[in-house]
Amino acid sequence: MMVTPSYTAAADRPVSMALRAYLLITVIATFSRPTEAVLSVNATPEYIHSCRKADVQFNSCIKETFNHLRPYLIDGIEELTVPPIEPLVIPKMQMENGHGAVRVRAILSNMTIHGASNYTVLNVRSDMNKYRIDLGLFIPHIEATGNYDVNGNVLLLPVRSRGEFWASFENVTALAKLYGVEVNKEGVKFMKTERLGIGFKLEKSDFKIKDAINMQNVIGEAMNVFLNENSAEIIEEMKPAASQAIGKHFKNFLNNAFLQIPLKVWLKDSE
Ligand SMILES: *[C@@H]1O[C@H](CO)[C@@H](O)[C@H](O)[C@H]1NC(C)=O
Ligand SMILES: *[C@@H]1O[C@H](CO)[C@@H](O)[C@H](O)[C@H]1NC(C)=O
Ligand SMILES: *[C@@H]1O[C@H](CO)[C@@H](O)[C@H](O)[C@H]1NC(C)=O
Repeated sequence: MMVTPSYTAAADRPVSMALRAYLLITVIATFSRPTEAVLSVNATPEYIHSCRKADVQFNSCIKETFNHLRPYLIDGIEELTVPPIEPLVIPKMQMENGHGAVRVRAILSNMTIHGASNYTVLNVRSDMNKYRIDLGLFIPHIEATGNYDVNGNVLLLPVRSRGEFWASFENVTALAKLYGVEVNKEGVKFMKTERLGIGFKLEKSDFKIKDAINMQNVIGEAMNVFLNENSAEIIEEMKPAASQAIGKHFKNFLNNAFLQIPLKVWLKDSE
């Protein structure tokens, strides 16, 4: 089919105008993206309970800072692009355990976690000259659902299973060891988390899986029964690998926020 030149030219003009308008909007949208936003050093956002390093009660102050944050974290903090933590959504978490009775590679995906926002900071130990903060946390109840993909050996049995899981944990006590460094962005100082070590204790845990690859056959049924019956041991064996995966996830979560909050905003007497 032929298109006459005059027709093309006439139709072209409004298109290119629309295109230009579109490009302009894209450019504006790109430059005003909230992820680029950084608070000013003089900002006093309501979600920040600030502290002074010189405070003799500095650790109690930091404890209050984290407890004060809780209601804001529940809904998320839009200006920092911090997503709501109730429920907490984790798109993907990978863990691997290469020794002991459970040697598996597990990928958890599309995870929805309820209860994390009910955390209480029990105690804080810190040395801000080294950007070291230890936080003791307590969470009464956590429930998680999502998809899993497990490959490896569980109690000497080769396991290849994929499907949906449900897990619940009660009276979780966690110790988060934050190793920070000071970073300087265009003359403004921030704290960056280089490493986040997580350790936790559970008073009661439980999980159930529904295998989907061997569905409605003997292997699938046996796999379900076997994994569900050994859930306590599997959780215990996977704790170090899970701690590592959780630490990595929350390190990114913290950096996403703290690299937008100048030190001076939450540590009033920092240089
Ligand atoms: C992810 O989880 C949501 C809510 O639990 C569910 O509706 C959705 O189907 C899941 N997506 C996948 C890809 O499994
Ligand atoms: C948080 O704790 C309160 C009080 O125990 C409880 O009613 C609520 O359901 C908990 N929230 C979640 C999301 O678990
Ligand atoms: C969790 O802690 C509460 C309060 O200390 C206690 O009443 C409850 O029995 C504990 N749950 C388990 C499973 O130990």
